[in-house]
Amino acid sequence: MGGPNELVLERADGSRHSIHPLWLRERCRDPASIDPQTQQRLQDPSDFDIDLALVAVSQPQPGTYRIKFSDGHEASFDAAEILAEAALTPNSHDCPAPRLWDGTLAELPRARWRADPGEAELSSWLEAFLTLGLVIFEGVPTEPGMVLKLGAMFGFTRETNFGALFNVRSTPNANDLAYTSLALDPHTDNPYRAPVPGIQLLHCLVNETRGGLSTLVDGFAVAQALRERHPQAFAILASTPVRFRYIDVDAELTASAPLIELDLGGDLKAIHFSPRLDFVPLFARERLDAYYRARRLFDQRLRAPDFAIRFLLKAGDLVMFDNCRLLHGRTAFDPSEGLRHLQGCYIDSDGPRSLYRVLRRRRALSSAVRRSA
Ligand code: OGA
Ligand code: ZN
Repeated sequence: MGGPNELVLERADGSRHSIHPLWLRERCRDPASIDPQTQQRLQDPSDFDIDLALVAVSQPQPGTYRIKFSDGHEASFDAAEILAEAALTPNSHDCPAPRLWDGTLAELPRARWRADPGEAELSSWLEAFLTLGLVIFEGVPTEPGMVLKLGAMFGFTRETNFGALFNVRSTPNANDLAYTSLALDPHTDNPYRAPVPGIQLLHCLVNETRGGLSTLVDGFAVAQALRERHPQAFAILASTPVRFRYIDVDAELTASAPLIELDLGGDLKAIHFSPRLDFVPLFARERLDAYYRARRLFDQRLRAPDFAIRFLLKAGDLVMFDNCRLLHGRTAFDPSEGLRHLQGCYIDSDGPRSLYRVLRRRRALSSAVRRSA
């Protein structure tokens, strides 16, 4: 605690947080401040006195503060809750943080799929997905449409002009190179869309070819390596808007984004990369010289075997990955060897995070109930 009119909370590691009076006032949880059912605020916090101060701070019991504000309002606060909230960064929220990986990732996160997983199992899938950016489910029935059922377990489907579900197989007159037998270099899907689809699921129904290996690269790991070795190139890619474009008879989609998108705290937020579809604006000669050098450095690393993992998607395998962090691709295959048929869909990024928090809350509630029993 600071002076009588200041709240300073200390962490176990000794670091101290001085808590702004308005920041605290907006977090009052008494029934006059929030609706207990929705936990939504009942007053517009911009109406609070801009010079609001604390007039009394007491600690009725360890870990709990009772605060009297200069507007006459009084409320209690749990120190641990306030410290947890103070620790949030723009990107981390409160879910497991990304654990960056490269081509040495020995054990791929594989899970035996079940239609009715227990909550602990579901949480472990989510944990793998949130830390590594992918999960490979095995034993998913090879029925058309299963990819949508799996997607619905984790979030809401993002329908696009390719449909709620898209078939990935080599077809004549393909409207996307994905629908040929050509190799696909590491890319993120649909950078020309606003917003970009957050998560992609690809379910293998048939694979009778020897090629067509799936590749994945942790774009955050590659961006981080670039940041360390070539900070200048990193800064250029993080600050150059690039226009992505998709065109067919029924659609013409464009969106601009830097290849490496940072959040306001300077942390990695998303990678947008598709060398089939990117068009940098006509900047001055020197700026473009620098951009092309930087893009080349980034692309060379994205394609380098030291960052990529490769695996064969067998019939019944389904890979779910973060399309804002990982880049995916495949090796070429020979369609005369047989059929290769995947079905894909997208879901929004926030689904798995929401589910992770809900499961965590249920776990905390049930262990509190057990303790009090
Ligand atoms: C795609 C894609 C990969 C594959 O459909 O976007 O990249 O393995 N497919 O065919
Ligand atoms: Zn793709």
